[in-house]
Amino acid sequence: MWDESLIKKMQKTIRGGVFFNAPMSQHTSLHIGGPADALVFPQDQRDLETLVDMARQWAVPYLIMGKGTNLLVRDRGLRQLVVNLSSGFNQIFARGERIRVGAGTLLTEMIGFAMEGELSGLAPLYGIPGTVGGGLAMNAGAWGSEVKERIGSITVMNGEGRTRKVSREDLVFDYRELRLPEGTIIVEGTFLMERQKKEKIEEEITSYQQRRRETQPLDFPSAGSIFKNPPGASAGRIIEELGLKGKRVGGAEVSTIHGNFIINTGDATASHVLELIHLIQTRVLQEKGITLEPEIRIVGE
Ligand code: EPU
Repeated sequence: MWDESLIKKMQKTIRGGVFFNAPMSQHTSLHIGGPADALVFPQDQRDLETLVDMARQWAVPYLIMGKGTNLLVRDRGLRQLVVNLSSGFNQIFARGERIRVGAGTLLTEMIGFAMEGELSGLAPLYGIPGTVGGGLAMNAGAWGSEVKERIGSITVMNGEGRTRKVSREDLVFDYRELRLPEGTIIVEGTFLMERQKKEKIEEEITSYQQRRRETQPLDFPSAGSIFKNPPGASAGRIIEELGLKGKRVGGAEVSTIHGNFIINTGDATASHVLELIHLIQTRVLQEKGITLEPEIRIVGE
C-alpha cells in the first residue's frame, strides 16, 4: 500500500511530523500498541486537507486520534494512515463567554485557560487526560457533567477535505458518543461558558481532582474506564462484586482501586488487555446477565 512515491510526497508536502512504522505504544496512554504504517501530526488545517486528499487519492483508510487516552491499539498495529491532531490544532480564543478551541488542545488546558479568564462550566472534566477533539467525539464526562452541556458549535472536515460548522441544535450526543458521519474529523469546538470568580472555579477543580485521585488509579498507564456503565448500574461496582479486582492476564491488571480500569503494570500487550476484557465480559454476562460494552476504542490488527 505504501510505495516510495507516497512516502516521499507526504514528507515533502506535510509540514508537521511524518513517521513510518511508528510504534503506537509511544502514542497511547496505555503504552500499548503495534506500529502504525504512517503516523502524521498535521500542523494546521492545510496539512490536514492535504492528508485527507492523499488518503482519498491513494485509497488509504485514515484514523483520527488525539492523545490516545481512550484507545487500545492491537499488537500488530495499524495498516492505516494515522492522523494525530494532538500537536497542531491547539489554538484557544475567548470572546465574551465563548471559547473557541482547536481539537488538539488538552481538555484540561482549555478548562485552565477558561478559569484564568474567570469562565466556568466544565470544571468536573478537569483532569481528563484527552484532547478537546477526543472529548467531543466521545462526549466525555465526569462527575455528572458532559462535554455536550457546554458545546455551542463544532467545525468538522469531511472526507473530501471540506470544512463546515455544525451548531449545537444539529448535533446528536449520546452517552459517551457524538453521532457524526463516518470519516468526519472534528477540527474545532466552541464552548459556551459562564462568568465565575477564579477562586471559586479553582476550588471546584481542586475538589474534583481530589475525588479523582482517591477513586482512580492515576499512577499506572490506563485508558480510563474500559466499559460503558450499563443502564442504571456501575461497571466498576459489578466488577468489584464479582471479585475481579486485581485479576491479571500477563501485564494487564484490573485495578484494585477502580474495577472499571485496566492498568498496564509494565509489560502488558493488547492481547493481555483483550483477554482480560473478554474474561470480565463473560463472567458479568454469566453471573449478572449484563452485557458490558467497551467504552474504549479498539483498533488495529
Ligand atoms: N464503585 C465500586 N467499585 C469500584 C468502582 C466504583 O463500588 O471498583 C462504585 C463507586 O463507589 C460509585 C459507583 O460505583 O458508587 C460509580 O463509580 P465512579 O464514581 O468511580 O464512576 P464510574 O461510573 O465508574 C464514571 C466515568 C468516569 C468518570 C467517573 C467520575 C464512565 C464509563 N466512566 O465512572 O470516566 O471519571 O464517572 O465521574 O461513565 C472515563 O470515561 O474514562 C472515565 C474515567
